[in-house]
Amino acid sequence: MKIAVCVSGGGTNLQAIIDAIDNGTIHNTEIAVVISNNKNAYALERAAKAGIEGICISPKDFSSREEFNKAFVEKLDSYNVDLVVLAGFLVVIPPEMIRKYEYKIINIHPSLIPSFCGTGYYGLKVHEGALERGVKVTGATCHFVDEGTDTGPIILQKAVEVLEGDTPEVLQRRVMEQAEWIIMPRAIDLIARGCVSVVDGKVQIKGE
Ligand code: GRF
Repeated sequence: MKIAVCVSGGGTNLQAIIDAIDNGTIHNTEIAVVISNNKNAYALERAAKAGIEGICISPKDFSSREEFNKAFVEKLDSYNVDLVVLAGFLVVIPPEMIRKYEYKIINIHPSLIPSFCGTGYYGLKVHEGALERGVKVTGATCHFVDEGTDTGPIILQKAVEVLEGDTPEVLQRRVMEQAEWIIMPRAIDLIARGCVSVVDGKVQIKGE
C-alpha cells in the first residue's frame, strides 16, 4: 500500500509511522511522499533522514484557495497513493479531494471524539479544553476524513488518564506518546491488511 503523509509541524506522528514500517508493525506499506504546507516543518527533516521525498505546497503560494486546492489534488494524484494520512496537517482538505478519496483519507485527533473536536479545537487548544472541563480521561482518535471537521467514521480510539497538575503541554505529550503514536500506525496497518470497512457510516474491523 502506498501512502502520502501530510504534515505541518514537528512530525512525531510521521516518525511513529516511519518507525512502525521499519520495525514491521505496519505491513506492506511504503510512504511515497510527505507533503507539508510549512517549508520549515521539522517533519520534512524527518522525511529526508528516512530517505522519503518531501514536498512543500502552501495556500500562501497561490492567488486563491481554489487555485491551491486544484494544485494540491493534482500533486497528490501524481503519486498514485492508496491512502492519505493527515498527521498534524493544519490545512483544510479540499472538498473535491474528500469526494475523490472517499474513505482513503485518515486523520489523528488528540481527543476522544466527539469531545473537544471541531472548529477551534486543534493543537494545545484540545488539551486546554479537556483540562478546563476537568475530564479524568482523554485520549486520541483516528478517523476517516469526511466533509466535516473531525466528523468522519471512527477507526480507532485510545484513552489516556488526565493527572493532577497536568498542564496542556504535559497532557499533549502523554496523549501523543500513549495514544497517537500507537493508534495511527495500527490504523494504517489494519487498512493495509484489508481489515477495515465502513458499513452504514460505521467502521468495522475484521481480524487483528
Ligand atoms: C498532534 O498533536 C496531533 O494530535 C495533531 O497535531 C499534532 C501533530 O504533531 N493533529 P506532529 O506534527 O505529528 O508531531
